[in-house]
Amino acid sequence: MICLGIESSCDETSVAIVKNGREVLSNIVSTQIPIHKKFGGVVPEIASRKHLTNISFVVKEALDKANLDFKDIDYIGVTYGPGLIGALLVGVAYAKSLAYALNIPIVPTHHIEGHIAANYLTYESLRPPFMSLVVSGGHTHLIYVKDYAEFEIIGKTRDDAVGEAFDKVARVLGLPYPGGPEVSKLARDGEFTYKLPKTKFDNYDFSFSGIKTAVINIAHKEKENLRREDLACSFEQTVTDELVDNCMRAMKDLKINKVVLAGGVSANLVLRDKLQKATKERNYECYLPDLKYCTDNAAMIASAAHYNYICGKSFDIKDKLDLNAVANLKIGE
Ligand code: KG4
Ligand code: ZN
Repeated sequence: MICLGIESSCDETSVAIVKNGREVLSNIVSTQIPIHKKFGGVVPEIASRKHLTNISFVVKEALDKANLDFKDIDYIGVTYGPGLIGALLVGVAYAKSLAYALNIPIVPTHHIEGHIAANYLTYESLRPPFMSLVVSGGHTHLIYVKDYAEFEIIGKTRDDAVGEAFDKVARVLGLPYPGGPEVSKLARDGEFTYKLPKTKFDNYDFSFSGIKTAVINIAHKEKENLRREDLACSFEQTVTDELVDNCMRAMKDLKINKVVLAGGVSANLVLRDKLQKATKERNYECYLPDLKYCTDNAAMIASAAHYNYICGKSFDIKDKLDLNAVANLKIGE
């Protein structure tokens, strides 16, 4: 079965062709980062307009690269939430029209299910159940993936997502958008010398607003005496410790011995390294997505859509013409 996947929830217009949920025939990502960089973050209105001007070309490029035609596509997978509403609407409207015109099923897919599925593209033999540590610009969740289309939230951030915290810390340190990779690069030259607050709750929730405020306060207090590399390093070390510690505690308590990392922040090398070490010490299985599938892309959406399709979540768009995008779509609730 051949899926054409569409992702437009934030600042990447992406279209992919994926066979049977695992084999990527093409994955085109047209990034808008250089445009938004000037503004220090994503400008939603500009993102929507850029998706609209890009999408037809990205679809054509994905088909050409896969050496396929529209008639070879069996169904369409599309991110319908969560994300920037104007950005999502472009992908959803395009997918609805294409599914109608080609008379093939549509599979609206949750963006985070896509991030988790990035691991199915990386590991041929990976199957649920497993724990997933989801770390992105909008999410920090511990999700128990019971089956391909069955998700239970074990814990989540009570305020900022970890990627959001990276981006805000980058701004304070005068680094460009997107901040995560920049903070990480700066941290390589630093030492863990600043003591920053770590949170721990009775359940498995996270919180990153305290550390973000602490970083801002240190930066304002120390001004020109600030050791930027050390602050970046201390921040990265503290948040990655918090993520891994919480995840290990949940896995131990719930007797789950397999973990899958997902979301844009899974590209962070310190986090990958710590998760690998912690799981090795405990004899747990650890899965890290291929770096090319960590940040937003449509191949991961097509993979997740495939499993939703198999689980009966596809439909004929003519039966549901009012399909809409949902900016704050929840997972597993
Ligand atoms: O998953 P993603 O591409 O978009 C959302 O669904 O939110 O994640 C983007 C987030 C941004 O906050 C970005 O700064 C962060 O992932 N990120 C990183 C790294 N690469 C991307 N954070 C830390 N270290 C990285 N290497
Ligand atoms: Zn994402």
